[in-house]
Amino acid sequence: MKIFALLRDQFQKDGGSYLAYLNRIGDFPNFELLTPECLLSKKKKAPLKILDLACGPGNAGDYLARKLSGRFSIEKVIYVDINADRLKTIPNSLIPREIVKSDLFDFLDKTGERYEVVVLRYAIYYFPLAEQSRLLEAVASAMPKGGCCVVSSFGLNDGETGFLTELSAKAMGLKSIHYDGCYVPPKDLKGRMKARGFLKFELSKGVTVWDIESFSKKFDLNKNQYGELKSWAASRCEEMGFSFKEENNNLYFEVPVYVLKGIKA
Ligand SMILES: C[S@@+](CC[C@H](N)C(=O)[O-])C[C@H]1O[C@@H](n2cnc3c(N)ncnc32)[C@H](O)[C@@H]1O
Repeated sequence: MKIFALLRDQFQKDGGSYLAYLNRIGDFPNFELLTPECLLSKKKKAPLKILDLACGPGNAGDYLARKLSGRFSIEKVIYVDINADRLKTIPNSLIPREIVKSDLFDFLDKTGERYEVVVLRYAIYYFPLAEQSRLLEAVASAMPKGGCCVVSSFGLNDGETGFLTELSAKAMGLKSIHYDGCYVPPKDLKGRMKARGFLKFELSKGVTVWDIESFSKKFDLNKNQYGELKSWAASRCEEMGFSFKEENNNLYFEVPVYVLKGIKA
């Protein structure tokens, strides 16, 4: 069973609850460290193009654009996602935007433009490792020298991500999962980005909160499963050193998230 493929299908069907979830938790762990100064050199004068790839509801691109607009002029934010439904809730903003329904490889292959800031948030694990390399290569070719690529994803090591994939599988009522080879720890991701012309890396670790109520709704969890999941998750969280709490029949986990920033050489 390919867990990431399952998660992807689930997300495609039910992006609405994902957006509600993001809005509820204000989900930008450590994006506050991405100041305009650390993203781009002050010398950048031309209006910026910001590209949010696999943008989903577009929160990440919008967040960065608003941040950068205090210091730089912004030509436009381009939001790209393969799923038309996800693109319906791209935030409105005074900053010009372009919304493109496309597979991100097709988009990168065809675009003749260069993007000073590219963000890929919670999206890299949608692609098997070989495709991730191809993706980073295509991203690098669509960026000018000095541009900044931000990749953010869950888990800082295999153990943590193993927990997350198992948790998702259990929430979906699956007995076992086989890891699908899409997860890349930040250290390896850095190596892959380096090989494709990025340097000056900065990595920061944050946490986000996942809760079982969101899972239950998403995956139609029944009450028995909730009990099973709770005892399993409590012991695994203790093992992993994750914070875990139960409140009002809901379980909350703090999940590690990394934000890796690389500058195009
Ligand atoms: C978990 S969501 C992340 C959304 C958003 N980046 C965020 O941070 O909330 C992953 C997104 O990747 C999109 N996606 C998956 N494969 C894609 C592809 N090949 N091309 C473009 N978008 C893709 C999905 O439609 C989904 O909106």
